[in-house]
Amino acid sequence: MRALLLESVHPDAVDVLRAGGCDVELLERALDESELVAALDGVQLLGIRSKTDVTAAAVAQAPDLLAIGAFCIGTNQIDLTAAGARGVAVFNAPFSNTRSVVELAIAEIIGLTRRLTQKNTDMHAGVWDKSAVGAHEVRGRRLGIVGYGNIGAQLSVVAEALGMAVSFFDTADKLALGNARRCRSLDELLESVDVVTLHVDGRATNAGIFGAEQFAKMRPGSLFLNLSRGFVVDHHALREHIESGHVAGAAVDVFPTEPKGRGDEFVSELRGLPNVILTPHIGGSTEEAQQDIGRYVAGKLRDFVTEGATTMSVNLPHLALPQQDGSHRIAHIHHNVPGVLATINGILAEHKVNIEGQLLGTRGELGYVLTDVGVDYPPAVLDELGGLEETVRVRLLS
Ligand SMILES: NC(=O)c1ccc[n+]([C@@H]2O[C@H](COP(=O)([O-])OP(=O)(O)OC[C@H]3O[C@@H](n4cnc5c(N)ncnc54)[C@H](O)[C@@H]3O)[C@@H](O)[C@H]2O)c1
Repeated sequence: MRALLLESVHPDAVDVLRAGGCDVELLERALDESELVAALDGVQLLGIRSKTDVTAAAVAQAPDLLAIGAFCIGTNQIDLTAAGARGVAVFNAPFSNTRSVVELAIAEIIGLTRRLTQKNTDMHAGVWDKSAVGAHEVRGRRLGIVGYGNIGAQLSVVAEALGMAVSFFDTADKLALGNARRCRSLDELLESVDVVTLHVDGRATNAGIFGAEQFAKMRPGSLFLNLSRGFVVDHHALREHIESGHVAGAAVDVFPTEPKGRGDEFVSELRGLPNVILTPHIGGSTEEAQQDIGRYVAGKLRDFVTEGATTMSVNLPHLALPQQDGSHRIAHIHHNVPGVLATINGILAEHKVNIEGQLLGTRGELGYVLTDVGVDYPPAVLDELGGLEETVRVRLLS
């Protein structure tokens, strides 16, 4: 097995893959399409971060490729449909930086509530203003979480541990953790909390969901945080509500347009506002998160290669089947049409191959079946399975 890891993936990923028997080649930079196609010759596993686009054309020209690891959260840079259609599994790390985002949110809530931004600016300007005016404890204050997913729910737990009361609003049914109170509407949340923090996902319908109307509904003197997606918030409206004093402070980590590279100018109408913390999309950027992403995604690639496991894959059905000693495993990805499982088992029966374990999963247009068989079977079995009209890819894992 050969793995190519681009974009300075964390070294722990290399350790995991090498321990799994892979030859690993590392490149610090991203590759463009033609460079990628050339580099993928003879490569089974590709690791990228957010800057390498894996297009349908690149996947089509990489017949050896078995799986792609996105060593990040997002997978927009990969043509998932094209990868699935060729039986290439894609994995990412959806939870590895959850805690990092939560800790930044907590730091900002405390920082804004104590007006640390102002005290810090004053001190650097030589002003000693030892006063408690406008500085509060977070204990006993009510936090309103919009979007109670992985990050929102974990923030809820940590905030309660600090003595905050928590309300949340989510468009989906979510279990309220600890003593958190579920709100029936966004308005109900806005009118009842001291701090509003957004943790919704990036679906297109969330564009501009937080604007002048929502800021106006927040309680006077409350705080606002957005560590989710930049396009969710109207920054002009936020500026107006900060300047009017209706919103007492804000922390913003994500922006509708963000500079492309380190050192590029950051342009935003939120610059220069008092008690506003601006950070360059670093909510999930900690060394711990990078390390966790490295281990997690590399582990998924290894398990796919060795066991055919697709748990948490973003484009294939999720399967994991415990394997018995002394068996071989056939991993078969196919078009999800009626009768494929019966056909596979018919071929095995015809060749008198005993099935020792089997698991089928389907997802959209794709089906995936893992079949464990005894080690004695004629080679024709694999040829026949590979030759089925419905077969996308068949692999023998011993
Ligand atoms: N700042 C960073 O560096 C950073 C790092 C990681 C994730 N994020 C972002 O944080 C956000 C949350 O991540 P997650 O892993 O918790 O996602 P998630 O998918 O687990 O949770 C999102 C939740 O928001 C809910 N939701 C969606 N639209 C809503 C709406 N309009 N109103 C109320 N609820 C709504 C969903 O039902 C879901 O429960 C994402 O946008 C992600 O991109 C940012």
